[in-house]
Amino acid sequence: MKKNVLISGGSGFVGQHLTNLLVKNGFSVSILSRSERQNTADISYYKWDVSKQYIDEEAVLNADYIIHLAGENIAGARWTSSRKKQIIASRVDSISLIYAVLKNSKKLLEAFISASGIGIYGAINGEEVCDENTPPANDFLGITCQKWESATDPIANLGIRTVKIRTGLVLGKGDGFLKKLSPIFKWKFGSALGSGKQYMPWIHIDDLCAIYLKSINDSDIVGAYNAAVADNTTNTIFSKTLAKIYGYTIWLPNVPSFLIKIAMGEMALLVLRGRRATSKKIEKLGFNFKYKSLDLALRDCVE
Ligand SMILES: NC(=O)c1ccc[n+]([C@@H]2O[C@H](COP(=O)([O-])OP(=O)(O)OC[C@H]3O[C@@H](n4cnc5c(N)ncnc54)[C@H](OP(=O)(O)O)[C@@H]3O)[C@@H](O)[C@H]2O)c1
Repeated sequence: MKKNVLISGGSGFVGQHLTNLLVKNGFSVSILSRSERQNTADISYYKWDVSKQYIDEEAVLNADYIIHLAGENIAGARWTSSRKKQIIASRVDSISLIYAVLKNSKKLLEAFISASGIGIYGAINGEEVCDENTPPANDFLGITCQKWESATDPIANLGIRTVKIRTGLVLGKGDGFLKKLSPIFKWKFGSALGSGKQYMPWIHIDDLCAIYLKSINDSDIVGAYNAAVADNTTNTIFSKTLAKIYGYTIWLPNVPSFLIKIAMGEMALLVLRGRRATSKKIEKLGFNFKYKSLDLALRDCVE
């Protein structure tokens, strides 16, 4: 009998790629979604509504593993105080909802694996290379990720192996960050943002999905893991590489920080600040990144 993986927010960018990989690797996949969706041969959909504390419990009861990707898009809208609350609640209250089903049913999953972000180390510019022992930051991203990760503690206390994947900027074809950036670079108007010196830890979608698969298959994987290539890409390096792929040398000056702040408000921190991070911890457990070169990763992703 196939093992079942339930993915919360599995209809999103990462979830769609991960679903394909899991199906190819012989798992059956279920997806928790806020929308009504048609089951396919490979995927069963279940509904939930985190704000109303509703969940179709069958989804959890049928699962051997749960991968928690659900959450309001962090870059989806300006960070007003109500948006910030939604960003946190959609990640944290959703875990609590799953926890309640696990606790009441005494269901022992094989693992609960949650997304988290390299943002746990904060939107800070600096030279320190962050590993999993680096203390979380006290800014909005740091606090969000801490709450997100801490929400998994009660699940770990049920005796369930719990993993947190601190994800860098995910590069993939036709979605995520590159979807917004590519048209500007395609028209040769792309340039670096702000000082351009801010680090941008990134990961190719195939590598991220392979880390989730390894987290399922390898029971030695417990706790927090960084998932980003440690090549010290700055925004300038990223922008120059993308421009080169689109066949030009950047000719415009860097987009000034003040303009980005006017356009994005506090959310501008997402693109104007960033820290270095290392993924040695997962590499020591035998994980090999397929895409270690930004050039190769971007070439694979741009259309
Ligand atoms: N992509 C990146 O670069 C990146 C980097 C670091 C961390 N991450 C994290 O990795 C996870 C997956 O990323 P992604 O890029 O796949 O995100 P995504 O494309 O925005 O997908 C997230 C999914 O979460 C569900 N969702 C959204 N708001 C929700 C809410 N209020 N309550 C319950 N579910 C909600 C949606 O599914 P339904 O509409 O079907 O409900 C959505 O498809 C996210 O938690 C993200 O923060 C991503």
